[in-house]
Amino acid sequence: MAATVIDGKAFAAKVRERVKAHVTRLVEEHGVMPGLAVVLVGENPASEVYVRSKGKATREAGMKSVEHKLDAATSEADLLALIGELNRDETIHGILVQLPVPDHIDADKVLAAIDPAKDVDGFHISNVGLLGTGQKAMVPCTPLGCLMMLREELGSLSGMEAVVIGRSNIVGKPMAQLLLKDSCTVTIAHSRTRDLPGVVRRADIVVAAVGRPNMVTSEWIKPGATVIDVGINRIEKPEGGTRLVGDVDYEDVAKVAGAITPVPGGVGPMTIACLLANTVTACCRKLGLAEPEGLTA
Ligand code: GUN
Repeated sequence: MAATVIDGKAFAAKVRERVKAHVTRLVEEHGVMPGLAVVLVGENPASEVYVRSKGKATREAGMKSVEHKLDAATSEADLLALIGELNRDETIHGILVQLPVPDHIDADKVLAAIDPAKDVDGFHISNVGLLGTGQKAMVPCTPLGCLMMLREELGSLSGMEAVVIGRSNIVGKPMAQLLLKDSCTVTIAHSRTRDLPGVVRRADIVVAAVGRPNMVTSEWIKPGATVIDVGINRIEKPEGGTRLVGDVDYEDVAKVAGAITPVPGGVGPMTIACLLANTVTACCRKLGLAEPEGLTA
């Protein structure tokens, strides 16, 4: 039987509606509008597109959006000073510094300077530690989006075998922590894993986040497994031009999987929706309110 297609675009629209409803409540009942500041240093065209769409989505959700576009030659000290200002700004609940930053700036130092309570990327060491110890953290947006889709598709994940392919700080490691928190049996596989297809074949849940186009094929997949494809790879088309593909060979894997996310239209739209969700979460926590329903891990 053909796999269910997990429509990330439609689900992200639902999450964004949920965000908007929470924002309306915060404004009307508490007189507070959640605010997100996005900082971009330099002129990376892909980053500029991301930052623009983050700003647009933030405004559409009824939140305050602030964009700081800094010259590529901006010093680390000036960037740290701006982060200090945003940390102190009462109207800003979330701060995101778009990565990568230019080589003369130490990204770790920049991430460490962000107030952990405003760290909507969940990259600050405090949030990494809180998530790793099962405490209330800010959770990185892409893994949070993957978790929301898995819960929506499967209900309880308890006891399931999950294999995460990729060990990055942004996706692989936090994804594994979230799956563990939901009581999965978790394996993190990577480029040095022996018999990678054999390891992946054990999984009820596969999350692919390696950045290798079409790497995961149907022989790797247990029939009926749920497959989440985090990869976004641009490849040349035989007839000329380019197209986006994931880390999973979609057409092939869809023949055996129970459910699968497409690329584009799967994980991608969920990432921005979760950035908005995290901003609302940060705002609610600052006000001492209950966790916003349906928006957290
Ligand atoms: N660059 C690419 N993805 C991301 C992300 O999720 N957060 C930030 N801050 N920069 C990125």
